[in-house]
Amino acid sequence: MLTSIARNMPSEPVLTTPCIIVNYKTYKQGYGPAGLELTRAMEELARASGVCLAAAAGPVDVANYVANSRVPVLAQNVDPAGFGSYTGAVLAEAVAATGAVGTLVNHSEHRLQLADIGEVITRCRENGLQTVLCTDTVATTAAGAALHPDYLAVEPPELIGGDISVSTARPEVVSGAVEAAREVAEGQGSPVVPVLCGAGVKTRTDVAKAMELGAQGILLASGVVKAADPKAVLEDLIQGLG
Ligand code: G3P
Repeated sequence: MLTSIARNMPSEPVLTTPCIIVNYKTYKQGYGPAGLELTRAMEELARASGVCLAAAAGPVDVANYVANSRVPVLAQNVDPAGFGSYTGAVLAEAVAATGAVGTLVNHSEHRLQLADIGEVITRCRENGLQTVLCTDTVATTAAGAALHPDYLAVEPPELIGGDISVSTARPEVVSGAVEAAREVAEGQGSPVVPVLCGAGVKTRTDVAKAMELGAQGILLASGVVKAADPKAVLEDLIQGLG
């Protein structure tokens, strides 16, 4: 049972903090009709809790989930390509046309070259898409903050898909990333980029620890998408946001 006070969802889906972004990856439970069912369950929980729950869907499913839910939907990747001869590329323009709110950038399972990260962030901004730039260390988080994405999401790759959360196994990575984002903003006189974290997050305790370390939200996948009862897991995770 959710204990937070129910609030109205914003009139348009929007990514705000604190948030839980569920990355559907290419899990069987996270594409097509199964993914839509999960997205609708997230919508119901978001309405009841007032917490921002967002879905990072596969490229073929993004438009479907945007059209059939009120959850903020992100792409899992946008390529550094424009209109023209780029067979198979995911365009910022195409993602924006679906009504998606943004995209993950440089996920550990879809790394980009540094120059391409900058280009993708720029192209997304031009197309009204928010960017969640994934990093793997404090140093790469500092480098990423200098590119001014809308969010940073630090995830040590070795913990992804496991049962020990980043907030338990590598708390210094979370707090260090938060500090790095703050220092870069101070140095550049720019707004502080909010830091999310992920990898191995499965319970409200994992979430609460991450928030204590300064994270403003969670990016996770297997703990929800592969769960026998994803809705129950999300209800639990929401409680950790405080
Ligand atoms: O994008 C989130 C992801 O890489 C973390 O995965 O399965 O450890 O929650 P997981």
